[in-house]
Amino acid sequence: MLHRTPTAAERLVSFVLPTDRTPKLLETAILVALCKALDVRHVLEIGTLYGIQTLNIAANLPHGGHVWTLDLGDDDLTTAEMDERDRAIAQLPRDAQAEPAFAVEPWSTRVTKLTGDSTRYDFTPMNGTMNLVYVDGGHDARTVASDTRNAFALLDPARPGAVVWHDDANPLHPDVGEHLDGVGRERDVYHVGDTMLAFALNPAAAALAAQLS
Ligand SMILES: C[S@@+](CC[C@H](N)C(=O)[O-])C[C@H]1O[C@@H](n2cnc3c(N)ncnc32)[C@H](O)[C@@H]1O
Repeated sequence: MLHRTPTAAERLVSFVLPTDRTPKLLETAILVALCKALDVRHVLEIGTLYGIQTLNIAANLPHGGHVWTLDLGDDDLTTAEMDERDRAIAQLPRDAQAEPAFAVEPWSTRVTKLTGDSTRYDFTPMNGTMNLVYVDGGHDARTVASDTRNAFALLDPARPGAVVWHDDANPLHPDVGEHLDGVGRERDVYHVGDTMLAFALNPAAAALAAQLS
């Protein structure tokens, strides 16, 4: 855990150069910076799509770090409840999703692909084991509420950790921001300006942030 301004070498990161399929560079930078600042080892991502953000995270974890990433299987596409916008994203070229960005050495060994509907998936065996959960799956109110509940339970209380949401303040997915307004009435939620990211720290991370401020 770093308790001082990291050196330039410690701040060195890797990321996928953007194309029309990649997340915004600033969002990637903030996500990776959070991983570094909290010395994250275990990450769960809900919503893999092409696995670009999975790869960005995996490429910046310390030795022994690991990312689990969950997305709908083909069967879930017919049964999962989702809004039309999410259904369109979920149906984006399935062949590209079947060959995600991290499916090459050495990254493939740092990533485990999970399949299922996050609102039905049994996360309980992983509860208390994650240092960061990235919520970027379905964006309707029911799914975001379920994913948020699971995300907090997944965090390891003994180490600094964070839940990060994508699509906060995205006008195309208004349920996310509305849900986070509710979460923000119970705990601190940080909305990151000029991005669609928001995050909340667990008590161990909040204590670390207080020490540094
Ligand atoms: C916006 S994309 C994820 C983008 C990815 N995190 C990135 O930054 O590169 C959302 C993904 O969530 C998946 N998804 C939607 N509803 C889901 C659910 N209920 N359970 C699991 N995955 C879901 C979709 O199939 C889609 O691939």
